[in-house]
This record gives sequence, structure tokens and C-alpha cells, in this order.
Amino acid sequence: MTARLTPTDIETAADLLRAGSLVAFPTETVYGLGADAQNPGAVAAIFEAKGRPHFNPLICHYPTAAAAFAHVEASPIAEKLAAAFWPGPLTLVLPRRPTCPVAQLAGAGLKTLAIRVPAHPVAQALIAALGRPIAAPSANRSGSISPTTATHVAAQLTGRIAAIIDAGPSTVGVESTVLDLSTPTPFLLRPGGISLEALESLIGPIARIADAATLRSPGQQLSHYAPNLPLRLNATSIAADEAQLAFGPALPASLTFQLSESKNLAEAASRLFEALHWLDTNAPAQNLHAIAAMPIPNHGLGLAINDRLTRAAAPRS
Ligand code: TXA
Ligand code: MG
Repeated sequence: MTARLTPTDIETAADLLRAGSLVAFPTETVYGLGADAQNPGAVAAIFEAKGRPHFNPLICHYPTAAAAFAHVEASPIAEKLAAAFWPGPLTLVLPRRPTCPVAQLAGAGLKTLAIRVPAHPVAQALIAALGRPIAAPSANRSGSISPTTATHVAAQLTGRIAAIIDAGPSTVGVESTVLDLSTPTPFLLRPGGISLEALESLIGPIARIADAATLRSPGQQLSHYAPNLPLRLNATSIAADEAQLAFGPALPASLTFQLSESKNLAEAASRLFEALHWLDTNAPAQNLHAIAAMPIPNHGLGLAINDRLTRAAAPRS
């Protein structure tokens, strides 16, 4: 049984986490699949429920920067980024302190730990009620589309987790930006809800691999976020058997999901995963066998959107 909870049930949810159970909860980026980060058995259950490979580490969610930096070795750059962007959709990878009580499995046995202070009030309330950090990946089955609603979570994880807290759709819609600060030059592991431009204007140049096929973060396998239907990128026309993922004025097509008529990248990001879930559900009934996505500019949140679409379109392993 997977209980459906509301934001008034925070204490119930915290009790479940305390007992070692898994609870899906809203964050401003996507829904997370939470466990008590200091309970190794509960952390192991996350990997089980998601079907996630054990080499792929999890993000730990903290109430404040001070609480997070008690578990990792912060640097001046980390402090600066935390002051500017936390709470919010930014994850920092830093060296674990020897005293860090987070389960080793949460960090996949690495010497580093990914930390984030989420802005969503329900996430904040849950972390506060538990009184410990919450380890949480996105609340989807490994390799599938990330969830931005409780319904998306339920479709993938019902029966595998104790509860889902429903607080409506996530507003940012793509996952947090993951920045590795454990090496001398900051390195972008995953584009996300805070743009690269915003980060670089604060701390200067950030290294990154421009080609999504060459990957450094354990979770950044090329095929990911995959809808059931094949996805074609940079479409300038829509074939008769394709459904359309539109950005700006739509092309002629029998089925269209509009990401942003006015070409607003933040709006498009907030609707991206809903679009993939929706097209996957609705295209087959109309005998459409693929999704064609219009081009999206590669700046600001467009970098994160294109990263997710490239992975969604990649050959399945
Ligand atoms: O917005 C988000 O980040 C959401 C919400 C729930 O916080 N979480 C999320 O988690 O997207 P997940 O597990 O789906 O993605 C975490 C990414 C993975 O690509 C993982 O490999 C990387 O962060 N990561 C975690 N710890 C790491 C570490 N120590 N070193 C390098 N990469 C790490
Ligand atoms: Mg994920």
C-alpha cells in the first residue's frame, strides 16, 4: 500500500521516514523519493524501489547551508553559491567530512557528497520534522521520466513506497543544477534549474563537457528520462505518425503539447516532464508512434531542457 498524504500530514510522513520507510515528497524542481539519509537500510531501499544501480549516488537534502556544511568541507566558492542560490535548485558536490553520519551508500561509497537545500515549503517542513537530512533521488523508476506531480510518482512507484505527499505540480520542472566543487575548477555535472550563466556571473568560468555522450557524473548515462515513444529532436516539420512537442508557434500536427507559445524557457522547463508523460499517454490512442520536438535555444534553462531531451532521444541501452 502506498498512502496518499497532503501537506498537513508532515508528522505522519516524518514518522514513516523515522521508521526507515520511503516517502515521496515535492520539491520545487521535481518530486523526490526520500529516506532518512543516516539509515543505511532505508537508503538501500531507495535503490531497490527505483531499480537504480548502486554506483549512482544520491543527493542529501538539508534545512540550511550551515547544516549541510557540517557534513562536507565547504570552500569559499561553495559558501558564496549557497548564500546566493539556497534555498533553491542547486546541488553542490563537496568532500565528505570524516565525521559525516550520512550512510556511505547514499554517496555510493564516494569521498564526495552531493548536498542541496530545497526551497519548497513542504520539503523544508519534512526535513525539519525528521531532524536529519533526507537522501532523495527523483521519484521515478531508474531511466524513466522524472515526476513533477504526485500522479507521475504514483504511476511509477505505487506499491513500492510507503507514501506520497501531494502538493501539486513542481514549479521549476527540471532537476537541480549539479556542480562539482571537489576539484580545483568548478565542473558542471548536470545543467538544471539554476542557469550556467547565473552561476558563472557569480563565480567565473565553470568547466563542462559540451557533449552529453561523454559523461562524468555516475547518473549521467546517455539514455535517461526516456518516454516509451521514440523522440526526434530539432523537428521543423511533423510527420503523419508523430505527435508534436512545440516551442513557439506550433507546426501542423494531429496532436500537440505546447511547452511555451511565447518561447519562455522557464515556462517550457516547468512543463517539460508533464509534456513527455502526457504525450506518452495520449499519442498511442491516436495511432501516433513517435514524438517530434521543435528546436529549443541552448541558453539559460534551455541548456537543461536540451540535456533532458537529448537523453530522452538517445538509443536505449
Ligand atoms: O532536483 C533534484 O536534484 C532532485 C530533487 C529530488 O532534489 N533530485 C535528483 O536526484 O534529481 P537524482 O538522483 O535523480 O540525480 C542526482 C544526480 C545524479 O546524476 C547523480 O549521479 C549525481 O546527482 N550525484 C549525486 N551525488 C554525486 C557525487 N557525489 N558525485 C557526482 N555526482 C553525484
Ligand atoms: Mg533522476
